[in-house]
Amino acid sequence: MTDKFVAAIDQGTTSSRCIIFNQDGAIVAVDQREHRQIFPKPGWVEHDATEIWSKVQAVVAGALAKAGLRAEQLSALGITNQRETTVLWDRATGKPVHNAIVWQDTRTSALCTELGGDVGQDRFRDATGLPLASYFSGPKAAWLLDNVPGLRTRAERGEIAFGTIDSWLIWNLTGGTDGGVHVTDVTNAGRTMLMNLETLQWDGQILSAMNVPEAMLPEIRSSAEVYGTAVGQLAGVPVASALGDQQAAIFGQACYDTGTAKNTYGTGSFLLLNTGNRPVPSKSGLLTTMGYQIGGEAPVYCLEGSIAITGALVQWLRDQLGIIASPDEIEPLAASVDDNGGAYVVPAFSGLFAPYWRSDARGVITGLTRYVTKAHLARAVLEATSWQTREVVDAMYQDSGVQITTLKVDGGMTKNNLLMQHQADVLDVPVVRPKVSETTCLGAAYAAGLATGVWNDLDELKAHWQKDAEWQPRMAQEVRDREYRNWRRAVERSFGWLE
Ligand code: G3P
Repeated sequence: MTDKFVAAIDQGTTSSRCIIFNQDGAIVAVDQREHRQIFPKPGWVEHDATEIWSKVQAVVAGALAKAGLRAEQLSALGITNQRETTVLWDRATGKPVHNAIVWQDTRTSALCTELGGDVGQDRFRDATGLPLASYFSGPKAAWLLDNVPGLRTRAERGEIAFGTIDSWLIWNLTGGTDGGVHVTDVTNAGRTMLMNLETLQWDGQILSAMNVPEAMLPEIRSSAEVYGTAVGQLAGVPVASALGDQQAAIFGQACYDTGTAKNTYGTGSFLLLNTGNRPVPSKSGLLTTMGYQIGGEAPVYCLEGSIAITGALVQWLRDQLGIIASPDEIEPLAASVDDNGGAYVVPAFSGLFAPYWRSDARGVITGLTRYVTKAHLARAVLEATSWQTREVVDAMYQDSGVQITTLKVDGGMTKNNLLMQHQADVLDVPVVRPKVSETTCLGAAYAAGLATGVWNDLDELKAHWQKDAEWQPRMAQEVRDREYRNWRRAVERSFGWLE
């Protein structure tokens, strides 16, 4: 039997990656490139979508070269992406009309408060599963329509296309101005705040409330089907999946059964629990969101705890404070002391997401004394990730009654043993990492391979999953309880800083 290969593009917040997998779901080649982070004002974060497209083309070429493969040897291409980041482009020229507004950007906070009106943050929660927050794409699109001169009129005439990064890439991959298809999938559409969770279509009432013309929106499709055929360097390859990166990760972690969950540690961390074929409303500050939809099958929904800043806090320690020179240095530095020395870091750089949704929160460090060293701070930075995760696990339990008994983890920070041990300690459950920790790309590849017959069904994919490492909890209950109380007191101090 000749092996089949599937490529996946993961267009993330800080970099783009292309990974080629073989039929066993093993990695054949990886290529990765970073792109610029643009910070025009405090709280604003932008990307250049044209730069992103050229980095994506470069990593595709890089991965093919490293694998020693030609495009025609690929059975399918899957797409996964940073979610919510919003691009508006001119359909005739193919050029973005403005930098992309990134998911972390807080410029729409006031617009979101205004949209909430008398009802408040939950005005569109029943229809979309989401609270009104600057995180989501619809208000970002509305902001651009209001602030780029002449844009609204052009959008109403159908000259402008809206997309999250999946749409932008698929449109370019399939020909751009020369016949590119303008589509998105349910997982990405579900993060715009414009899609109705039951109908899986754009919600007319929300479109008019936000004043977003339907003419600019892509067609909503399933997460695993052939949207079109690539041109250019990937000529002839079917573009066969699209999933937001967190949904791709839950798919790559083989969490196909109701009640299974994963946490991905990237720029932020995102814990998703599969809740089956019905959306479960949240009362505890989680999001009700799409899991995936394979072709014409029933969609799978999730509860999600979104944490805006985890890995980005380690980057901040490196780039803004200079306490470490590379992310790899944080673990030995933190391990050089026994505890956090009484310090807690709450990284509310984009406000706080789940379970608080407080756009008025800003970062704080509490418990400082002259005793505290940079090693204690390094430890407190890592612990901030596990405490934030503990808060969303508690909220999951309150909303779903599902007590997570082991946590499947993936993403860059999972190679940090100290953090993974602390995570097991504060959750009081084992934490398990799979052999292929690149589950985001793997999930996109799986979905594309299912759509094109490389793999037959979910059972076949499940059989690929293998454990690599496991951390058992070993913290005394009284220590866990005391530390959690301290963490929550620190969180309260982060509220109310935005005038
Ligand atoms: O919702 C934002 C999320 O999709 C970003 O993921 O991995 O690029 O930080 P990541």
